[in-house]
Amino acid sequence: MRKFAVLCALLFVSIASFYFSSCNNTGKEAETQTTQNKDSVARIERGEYLANHIALCVDCHSTRDITKWSLPVVPGSEGGGAGFPFTKTEMVPGVVFAPNITPFGLKDWSDDDIIKAMTTGVNKKGDTLFPIMPYHNYSRAAKDDIYSIISYIRTLKSIDSLRPPRKLDISMSMLGPLAQPDLSKNVLPDPSDKIKYGEYLVTLASCSDCHTPRTPQGVPLFDKAFSGGFVFATPFFKVAVANITPDSSTGIGGLSEDAFVQKFKANANPEKININPGRENSIMPWSMYGTMKEEDLRAIYSYLHSVKPVTNKVEKWPK
Ligand code: HEC
Ligand code: HEC
Repeated sequence: MRKFAVLCALLFVSIASFYFSSCNNTGKEAETQTTQNKDSVARIERGEYLANHIALCVDCHSTRDITKWSLPVVPGSEGGGAGFPFTKTEMVPGVVFAPNITPFGLKDWSDDDIIKAMTTGVNKKGDTLFPIMPYHNYSRAAKDDIYSIISYIRTLKSIDSLRPPRKLDISMSMLGPLAQPDLSKNVLPDPSDKIKYGEYLVTLASCSDCHTPRTPQGVPLFDKAFSGGFVFATPFFKVAVANITPDSSTGIGGLSEDAFVQKFKANANPEKININPGRENSIMPWSMYGTMKEEDLRAIYSYLHSVKPVTNKVEKWPK
């Protein structure tokens, strides 16, 4: 078990050390600005867009319907906490629920408390969150986007139930939280720079967390970034993560930009896809990503076509 913890630490550090000089150190206090007086309609709309179509807070922190394509969120459960725990299927050494982030769950949390959880992985109780919660990605979000998400989640309908506490077979103190990033240095790239802007969206959308293969111990293989292959063996179906590098035979190199956009749109309606949900389904949240703005999908395409092509043939529904 100790060995696993150390490897997890490696995984975590390997993600984190790209951006931060030190782990295990909360560094300076979270920014003290508040969202008061700043909850303009535009800000809440931006937050709603990010939380439902890019950063997908509402995907993980809600109940998902396993009888439909890509497990859409059950209406009315938004932000109330995950219906299913994350377990070894997602390489979690134990059982972790995504907690309630509606106003009921976060009633005593200040904006700074939420920022700290989102960007360093430390919750209000001082516990380090398991990195299935993608704080390593949100720590790179522009400050305005972070405040927009907070403004929006504070408008979610309150759901007054809590999820069971997590049970981990490892000590999270071995991983340590991320140092508080200097959010003022996180800039939203100009959308006209499609590759940079696409990279920003791919980071916030945590595409790499699923699409980059890992060692059996969970350490991401960044030299094979986005080449897929990991098999999610859920209790209901098995699905392998696709290769989305620009490799022309095994990745998305042969897919035109329009066909890429079409793929997202075609997969977006969970009612319209004729599948056998007991056998052939996906945990990629298509219904949420598929409804993102078309120009954002085009930017993501540009970025993905700028990464290293990796040959790796993946069978979508392995036996
Ligand atoms: C991939 C799934 C996933 C996504 C996406 C995600 N979360 Fe989480 N989040 C989790 C899990 C799982 C936990 C609990 C981790 C633990 O307890 O170790 C968590 C914990 C939290 C906590 C701490 C709550 C508490 O009571 O301790 C907050 C706050 C939070 N998330 C906010 C967000 C916000 C805001 C977003 C979107 C920007 C988001 N999350 C996106 C999975 C996710
Ligand atoms: C929760 C894990 C997960 C996340 C997060 C995720 N994907 Fe996927 N993705 C998958 C799986 C599994 C498949 C294969 C099954 C399918 O087609 O749905 C897949 C398939 C795809 C495909 C289809 C490739 C093909 O050749 O048919 C594309 C394109 C894609 N993902 C792009 C993305 C992008 C872009 C993001 C981020 C915005 C992303 N994915 C985030 C799990 C994920």
